[in-house]
Amino acid sequence: MKQTQWYKDGVFYQIWPRSFKDGNSDGMGDLWGVIDKLDYIQSLNVDGIWFSPLYCSPGADCGYDISDYMKIAPEFGGMEAFRRLLTEAHKRGLKIIMDLVVNHTSDEHEWFQKSRQRIDPYTDYYIWRPKKPNGKLPNNWASMFEGDSAWQWDEVRKEYYLHLFAIKQPDLNMDNPLVREEVKKILKFWLDFGVDGFREDVITFISKEEGLPNDIPIPGFSGILKYNHGPHIHEYLQEFRQDVLQHYDCMTLAEAPLVTPKRAMTYISELDPKHHDIDMMIQFQCMCADCLFSDYIPMKFSLRRLKRAFRRWQVKLHGKAWNMLYLENHDHPRVISRYGSEKFRTASGKALAVSYLFQQGTPFIYQGQEIGMTNWWPKSIDMYEDVQTLNQHLKDPEEKRLKLYHRASRDSARTPMQWTGGDHAGFSEHEPWLYVNENYREINVEQEENDPDSLLNFYRKAVALRKSLKVVRDGKYREYGIFSNKIYVYERVLDGETDAAAPPREEREETPSESASEEPKAMSAQPKRILVICSFSEKPMRFLMRRGISLANADLILGSYPVKETSKVKTDGSTILRPYEARVYSIPG
Ligand code: NOJ
Repeated sequence: MKQTQWYKDGVFYQIWPRSFKDGNSDGMGDLWGVIDKLDYIQSLNVDGIWFSPLYCSPGADCGYDISDYMKIAPEFGGMEAFRRLLTEAHKRGLKIIMDLVVNHTSDEHEWFQKSRQRIDPYTDYYIWRPKKPNGKLPNNWASMFEGDSAWQWDEVRKEYYLHLFAIKQPDLNMDNPLVREEVKKILKFWLDFGVDGFREDVITFISKEEGLPNDIPIPGFSGILKYNHGPHIHEYLQEFRQDVLQHYDCMTLAEAPLVTPKRAMTYISELDPKHHDIDMMIQFQCMCADCLFSDYIPMKFSLRRLKRAFRRWQVKLHGKAWNMLYLENHDHPRVISRYGSEKFRTASGKALAVSYLFQQGTPFIYQGQEIGMTNWWPKSIDMYEDVQTLNQHLKDPEEKRLKLYHRASRDSARTPMQWTGGDHAGFSEHEPWLYVNENYREINVEQEENDPDSLLNFYRKAVALRKSLKVVRDGKYREYGIFSNKIYVYERVLDGETDAAAPPREEREETPSESASEEPKAMSAQPKRILVICSFSEKPMRFLMRRGISLANADLILGSYPVKETSKVKTDGSTILRPYEARVYSIPG
């Protein structure tokens, strides 16, 4: 079947089902709730939804521990609700992407239950190892969620099994062809059911180095150099592609910790089908502008680091592969609390939106990002649900842990969606499964619907604008002022257009003078060149493009501050950017 690459024109919305909307008043989000909110999702001008896992699961890792791949969990509405969801979503032109979690299953999956009893054909479905004669563990690999060894002794089989994540998430043995057949059955089942693609969970981990050798010790991550991008990864992904995926007009998106653009080209190249295993990759570099690989090793936010990550992926993939763009998902705390400013919540939320929405690739918006939800502040460790958080730093005093978890825990992004200022934020009529962020009375959809200048309405506008511009889909990326830690400026230019040397830019803090108005212009024709400017400063900044580009004859096509307050561009092309102001200009050819 012809793969039309429809995802290149789309914007996706990610739903983390437990916390989106409760439709049956049991305190847990579900598909009835999602169906109820499809009009809302459509109103964001997005084209599809990625669902974090909806399958049957004991919930040790909120659904990333699957006990039945072919069934939607009854608490989410079961198969019937999913069928309805699919029909209703497709009616509205929304594609549906499922999460495919096949690096591991739940220990409650029938395969594991039989494997531990050595019942064939399941005996070798998982990675089992006997005790070493010297009593030592099979190797020094660490579990990312247990903070300790990735090996768990099983009393039934009298062997260790590997679990790179929680104890209840045993790793599948993908070297076993029968396991790969199971994966293909799952893919085929859901594609035949009507879904449009898959986000593939830690898929780069599925091929472990032969012999499972020791790795250099890296606290919490030992082993990652031995199982990430392992020896058969491309072979297995090609097998999935050739035997199943290529027969459908679907999209695949691979979660890929530690991936670089160079490595990504071996998975997503559009120039060579041998290196096109999947369509896009979720890279982590854009999530590391304020931490060292893990959110649990925080650092001061550096705009420069964020820009470098954006730049590398934009420049290196252009014309060769397709980017996936995001700033939030269910695994990372809220971006306004990290890269923006809670004090300038709406303004910084808009700047962050503009910073990534006008890049090349397929953008994803995570539930609540569009209304500027922020990290929550639990009062005690007992309020957390995230298995990763609960196992961290157990020896540290509670006060210290709480401070770190506010910044680092995935629960910061998993609190229930804030729909209204009413009980339980309008998420449910019942006590929710996880605490609602206390700020729900000020931050909620209802309130933002009624405010034309809200972040929510800005997202709608920005997404619609992005989709209307050919230059955003196809143009080249070029950045200016790469060393600035206060302003992010990039342009997108359609091929064949001006390619002048990047002019230097001046910036300094300044008190703004009385501003004249500059109306965002209705576009007469498709611009061939746009300039995106985002301030990340809490203070006003003077901004000047000194050579090559003049803002004086450019058209403002999107601005993050109310028009009447917009600083006028002076005849010398300089302008004052207000705190976290973002603008998009169309630049005459
Ligand atoms: C990555 C997922 O995004 C995360 O939520 C999950 O806990 C791990 N993989 C394990 O499946």
